Amino acid sequence: MWSGRFTKKSDRLTEEFNASIGVDSRMYRQDIAGSIAHAAMLAQQGIITPQEGEQIVKGLQEVLEDIEAGRLEFTIEAEDIHMNVETFLTQKIGDVGKKLHTARSRNDQVALDVRLYLRDEIGQIKQLLLELIAVLCDLAAQHTGTIMPGYTHLQRAQPITLAHHLLAYVEMLRRDSERLEDCSKRVDVMPLGSGALAGTGFPLDREMVARQLGFSQITRNSLDGVSDRDYAIEFASFASILMMHLSRFSEELILWSSSEFGFVELDDAFATGSSIMPQKKNPDLAELVRGKTGRVYGDLVTLLTIMKSLPLAYNKDMQEDKEPLFDAIDTVKASLMVFAPMLKTARFNTRSMAQAAQGGFTNATDLADYLAAKGLPFRDAHEVVGKAVLYCLEKGISLQDVDLATYKTFSPLIEEDIYEFIDVARCVARRRVPGGPAPEMVSQAISEIQEWLRRMGYDADK
Ligand code: ARG
Repeated sequence: MWSGRFTKKSDRLTEEFNASIGVDSRMYRQDIAGSIAHAAMLAQQGIITPQEGEQIVKGLQEVLEDIEAGRLEFTIEAEDIHMNVETFLTQKIGDVGKKLHTARSRNDQVALDVRLYLRDEIGQIKQLLLELIAVLCDLAAQHTGTIMPGYTHLQRAQPITLAHHLLAYVEMLRRDSERLEDCSKRVDVMPLGSGALAGTGFPLDREMVARQLGFSQITRNSLDGVSDRDYAIEFASFASILMMHLSRFSEELILWSSSEFGFVELDDAFATGSSIMPQKKNPDLAELVRGKTGRVYGDLVTLLTIMKSLPLAYNKDMQEDKEPLFDAIDTVKASLMVFAPMLKTARFNTRSMAQAAQGGFTNATDLADYLAAKGLPFRDAHEVVGKAVLYCLEKGISLQDVDLATYKTFSPLIEEDIYEFIDVARCVARRRVPGGPAPEMVSQAISEIQEWLRRMGYDADK
């Protein structure tokens, strides 16, 4: 394709090393859509004739059909998806095909293709994210009264509900979808017309191309148009944060499905067995999501490092952006796809959860609150309850089991009503502060999330 300037053929190793078709062939649809828009615009602007424009557009549509039908094979001689498509076109319609690349460079072409590709994928990922949020919301609705221990330092801390715990993940995922939304604004910019770096002297109608391809803006600087990869980095940042959330959730599901916790049993369809230990049921999917988080972080660091210190404008280094970007896209999609059904089919052992909440003194803070409400300074109340807990630990009993006479020795303020007060379900019900775990607050939160899902365009039937 640069045969004019060169007198020798490329070395085979050069061809292989230089080629990106193995990675970028998946953008064939976007590449063809971009070329069709470009050709139509060239014709409208009188840069090529209407007949030439029609021939090129029709030829490209046929190339698309041929690729989808498996009738064409990509070659590394043509280096990348852009040159492969152009070669197919010229083979099909002859020399007119060579006019397609007028007023265009592969530098603005590849920027366009990646943006188009990412835009489509973002749309799918957004739906997958909303679907996971909807699954969590449904689960939460079933468990607003399911008492479980909340933890800090992985030590039982205070009683909460399973619904409240699940809604914590909903909040993380909502922020993730906002980040994705925000990233998509920066993806939604059309770079064609930037040329190699300095635009073009041909009278292009860039807005027409943007409209035809469904972009709401065009890039404002031709150098930036071909050298910007911020949108890919932003996507990988979104993906990394999302995976971090999913890996925290995975970690909890892994812990919870151990016999030591026994809070959840994953469905057989979403767990695996051991080839040697017949009793085993392993949470492999959750472990893999946790593990794949590392790949996505790697993708982000790869992208940042590729772009670091690159002078303007295009540099071939940037061809390396697609592997990590595609890997982040694929990994996030696959993780979201398994996560939703894995959760939907999981059986939560509400009895173990309740038992765990009864033990471990999760109501100790409430006992201190009881004393504080009766006028004892909280610090002193804390001290009193600490002594009561120590007493219980020595006797091997819980706070509900201490008789009133003994309680009186800790503090005369304690009355008969203490037993009801420190009942764990009451402890939860009392936490009616906005954002708290009381069932009525959680039910309100669920309605608000459902409303938000509708606003975000979530379609439950999709
Ligand atoms: N395959 C290249 C890429 O992905 C396309 C742009 C090539 N441009 C160039 N001047 N060599 O970045």
